[in-house]
Amino acid sequence: METTSVDRNRKSEIRVSGPDSRPYVLGETEAEFRRLEMQSAFIRDLTEDVLKRAGLKPGMRVLDIGCGVGDVATLAGELVGPTGSVLGVDRSAASVRTAERRVAQTRQHARIRFAVADLDSFVPDETFDAVVGRLVLMYLPDPAATLRRLAGHLRPGGILVFQELSMPSIRSVPDTPQFLRCKSWIMETFERTGFETDMGGKLFATFLTAGLPGPEMISAGRAEGGHRSLVYAYMAATMQSLLSAMERAGVTTADEVGIDDLAERLRDEAVARKACIILPPFIGAWTNKPA
Ligand SMILES: C[S@@+](CC[C@H](N)C(=O)[O-])C[C@H]1O[C@@H](n2cnc3c(N)ncnc32)[C@H](O)[C@@H]1O
Repeated sequence: METTSVDRNRKSEIRVSGPDSRPYVLGETEAEFRRLEMQSAFIRDLTEDVLKRAGLKPGMRVLDIGCGVGDVATLAGELVGPTGSVLGVDRSAASVRTAERRVAQTRQHARIRFAVADLDSFVPDETFDAVVGRLVLMYLPDPAATLRRLAGHLRPGGILVFQELSMPSIRSVPDTPQFLRCKSWIMETFERTGFETDMGGKLFATFLTAGLPGPEMISAGRAEGGHRSLVYAYMAATMQSLLSAMERAGVTTADEVGIDDLAERLRDEAVARKACIILPPFIGAWTNKPA
């Protein structure tokens, strides 16, 4: 058992057993943590919209599962305000340390805690008003079972809200072959390593399988173009984080990807074609636990 918290007086008791043996496919490097921060900056407004639609309000006690380096926990912390609290959990001790360090630099540090725990077996010892998660169910072997179990730790009427990707929908107009080749490599790596590429599309069924009411949903995504867009650096960072897994799975090699100048090549290609890159929809889904 391993617990950790930025507020040492309010440590949460976490019981853990039988962790998922598949490693997080994007790794636990500093580069991946920076990529998560970049991704969060990119989609922060989309996540905030979903959390607000779901009904996150001041005073709520929130559990953020698969918290990574703490961006959703921080956003939830802003929405629940000084009378609320957030517990973020992640299997990666390195992510949790980074999340703690980042949150310690904010004024919210006293009410946002983090703990190291595997969601396959995580059993909180407290009751929450909301369970939230972004881009995490796609990495779990049985997301419906996790939702069902965590719903047991929600108060009646409490909120379950998740935001997940629908990767197959990435496209560009007109085609940008290098960008779309990266998409194919990423999807093939996820498929070969057993992770879900369309968790967004499966959210509705997952809630029902978990015995929850059918969720309300919304789909939102970025469309990007021009030389100033962050999208080329974001795609190159995603490729960098996945490169080891891609090579191990026999999908591609560092030489074939040409990682060193990938971002510049993606940008030059898109700018030359006046392309609009349509990123995958982030699908938000939320429901309330029946009273
Ligand atoms: C793509 S990151 C998302 C991080 C954060 N939710 C965000 O949106 O910035 C997925 C996170 O899920 C965590 N994760 C994956 N499987 C997990 C498991 N079985 N238990 C706990 N955390 C897990 C990973 O360690 C990683 O930090």
